[in-house]
Amino acid sequence: MDKRGPLPLAILVSGTGSNMEAILRYFEQPGKEGLVKPAVVISNRKNAYALKRARLKVETTFKNKVPTAYLPSGIRKGMSDEEKAVVRKAYAQKMINSLESHGVMSGNGLICGAGFMVIIHKDFLDHYPNQVISIHPALLPSFPGMKGVADAFKYGVKVTGPTVHIVDEGMDTGPIIGQKTVEIADDDTLDTLEDKIHKAEHELYPWVVEQFARDRVSVVDKSDIGGSDRSVVIYKEN
Ligand code: GRF
Repeated sequence: MDKRGPLPLAILVSGTGSNMEAILRYFEQPGKEGLVKPAVVISNRKNAYALKRARLKVETTFKNKVPTAYLPSGIRKGMSDEEKAVVRKAYAQKMINSLESHGVMSGNGLICGAGFMVIIHKDFLDHYPNQVISIHPALLPSFPGMKGVADAFKYGVKVTGPTVHIVDEGMDTGPIIGQKTVEIADDDTLDTLEDKIHKAEHELYPWVVEQFARDRVSVVDKSDIGGSDRSVVIYKEN
């Protein structure tokens, strides 16, 4: 574990929050306590079920209370691209302020996007280098974008599954940290496949967070080890 103590953890949500719950519960298990400090759950949607779930369960069932914050993105229909750029930059600062007030600092903390439907600004990523991660419901680099499960299903692949990656400025393009395979059976429907993917996500995402908490994740320039211009994640022994 990092000598500085438990890893301050923020979770960004917009939807139902099942991954958020899986992560929070994982670190309440015997032997996992003290690895992370759940610092804050932030949502851009006031009525996100994730926020409701966090508030209800955090206060009643979770051992440790986790503060929640509602931070609307400020993006409105009909805004020009220039207006959106200004709003997104301001939002990055608003998020940084909120995270820092909860102890999630540049160089010390992990920010997990878990169904967070806001484009993350470069200023935010620069402030938290390699500290912002996200989960995608397909095996990247295949099927990036908003419909990873359905695109893989419609394509007819036999194996798919979630990917956790470092967030960079592209759409689902950052260094891959972990993946978990899910087989698609002949009798699977989109619904049954979604269930399988969610189940795999709930195993994969906490595991990835644990690797950060144990300081095992290192992002390296692959030109040093394999001649690619991509950065990749390697696991350190410790
Ligand atoms: C997950 O399927 C994740 O892959 C995608 O959004 C979904 C979030 O689900 N990015 P939940 O809110 O954690 O239930």
